[in-house]
Amino acid sequence: MSYDLIVIGTGPGGYVCAIRAAQLGLKTAVVEKRATHGGTCLNVGCIPSKALLHASEAFEEANKHFSELGIDVGTPKLDLKKMQSFKQSGVDGNTKGVEFLLKKNKVDTYHGRGRIAGAGRVEVISDDGGNQLLETKNIVIATGSDVTRLPGVEIDEKTVVSSTGALELAEVPKRLVVIGAGVIGLELGSVWRRLGAEVTVIEYLDRVLPGMDGEVGKQFQRILAKQGMVFKLSTKVTGVETGKKGRATVTVEPAQGGEPEKLEADVVLVAIGRVPYTEGLGLETVGVATDDKGRIEVDSHYATNVTGIYAIGDVIAGPMLAHKAEDEGVAVAEILAGQSGHVNYGVIPNVVYTFPEVASVGKTEEELKKDGIAYNVGKFPFTANGRAKANGTTDGFVKILADAQTDRVLGVHIVGADAGNLIAEVAVAMEFAASAEDIARTCHAHPTLTEAIKEAALAVDKRAIHV
Ligand code: FAD
Ligand code: NAI
Repeated sequence: MSYDLIVIGTGPGGYVCAIRAAQLGLKTAVVEKRATHGGTCLNVGCIPSKALLHASEAFEEANKHFSELGIDVGTPKLDLKKMQSFKQSGVDGNTKGVEFLLKKNKVDTYHGRGRIAGAGRVEVISDDGGNQLLETKNIVIATGSDVTRLPGVEIDEKTVVSSTGALELAEVPKRLVVIGAGVIGLELGSVWRRLGAEVTVIEYLDRVLPGMDGEVGKQFQRILAKQGMVFKLSTKVTGVETGKKGRATVTVEPAQGGEPEKLEADVVLVAIGRVPYTEGLGLETVGVATDDKGRIEVDSHYATNVTGIYAIGDVIAGPMLAHKAEDEGVAVAEILAGQSGHVNYGVIPNVVYTFPEVASVGKTEEELKKDGIAYNVGKFPFTANGRAKANGTTDGFVKILADAQTDRVLGVHIVGADAGNLIAEVAVAMEFAASAEDIARTCHAHPTLTEAIKEAALAVDKRAIHV
């Protein structure tokens, strides 16, 4: 078979790219080695984690907060097996949806490992070892990422787990030790804490969520600690030993060196980042260049150093986020069809789906200081927002950073209920190069949490009404 485009990998980057290419009239095929489409995100990432976050939040609400609303349901009982099947039905619904969309758009699908066999040639190696050779004008590599391993710590996905194992636990661990206070550690740590685990998070750096605004990180850590999560910052793990009865001993010491300490755990979650995945892809056959972190190097049109081979998503540089991969998928398909696809990397929202949520877009205060850009800050706490007060969800704030000269919004950071949805408004505003004044003059419905955004925009000019 001969194609205009073959996409290797059907995660959010790959399947979206294939659909857009087919819409634009390119004869397109995808190759996927997993049994279902949707990649890490739909199968073992975004979707199952959000299903468990949703279900565990409902459990905690019923357990701790319903009585405050005057609802007496007694003590709720956890049926973890049922909760896991709720999660799986969300995953199945989404992966089947992608299968349907690929079919609807007449994208040919091949199951097996894709290997670049030479310029314009992709070999599909099926599970039983059989192979098929496909020809194509262009190849888009969208093979995603894999878990970063901690040297000397073996992940068995039972006692020492990655995010994949942490989504599949059959029992609530009594003690869960999480290595890494990044987004996976805090999201999945929240899930198991809500369901009854004692959770201790070990972080090498002196803060949680590095990369996010520092003030946000500090307040967020305080909120999670209030919920019962224990943090050991500036701490390094020097070893994990698994013993009888499936338990583990984690040895830690201060990051700068000092007295070691031993922590007992029923489950240890290793969540120290992800690395690009290119195993068995045959990059060497044609000499596709990668950088020192193993990421495929591309130019601003997603082209690698080899003519006709492109790459997108987690396998290239940039934030490892599903929506970033999707937007790159659309952009590269449009470029291949002769259009001018483009992604604005300055406006990619980043959300942590805990309770409360954390959402961020644009520059942090630390980045603005480093770049020497003068800025004004407008902050508004949810304690002063009518709807948050009525709902009893007053933790957190909205912070808007605006250029001191032009008032253009440079970054927005939110800790609070529904922050992941709230951030969309400011992302649109930033795409249109809005000033804080533009947001402040936009009528926001009352009573909504979005009024906190308007008030933060007013606060940039020191004229917030409700504080
Ligand atoms: P992937 O989704 O990794 O897809 C790559 C696909 O390529 C896979 O299906 C793989 O099987 C296939 N593949 C690899 N090699 C080959 C080969 N040689 N031949 C054929 N097929 C191959 N991001 C968010 O934006 N929001 C979230 O809430 C979120 N939650 C997450 C939660 C967890 C627990 C994890 C682990 C990640 C989460 N992410 C989230 C990150 C998100 O999953 C990734 O950024 C996204 O999946 C990247 O998309 P991709 O298309 O580049 O790669
Ligand atoms: P991460 O990069 O978010 O966090 C890893 C954390 O581990 C960092 O705080 C880092 O300082 C720490 N760390 C690194 N080495 C360590 C060590 N040896 N000991 C102790 N701490 C150590 O990575 P994470 O949480 O694994 O997530 C991977 C990727 O998946 C993220 O980059 C994110 O983009 C994506 N993701 C996105 C989600 C979302 O958008 N809501 C949800 C889950 C994952």
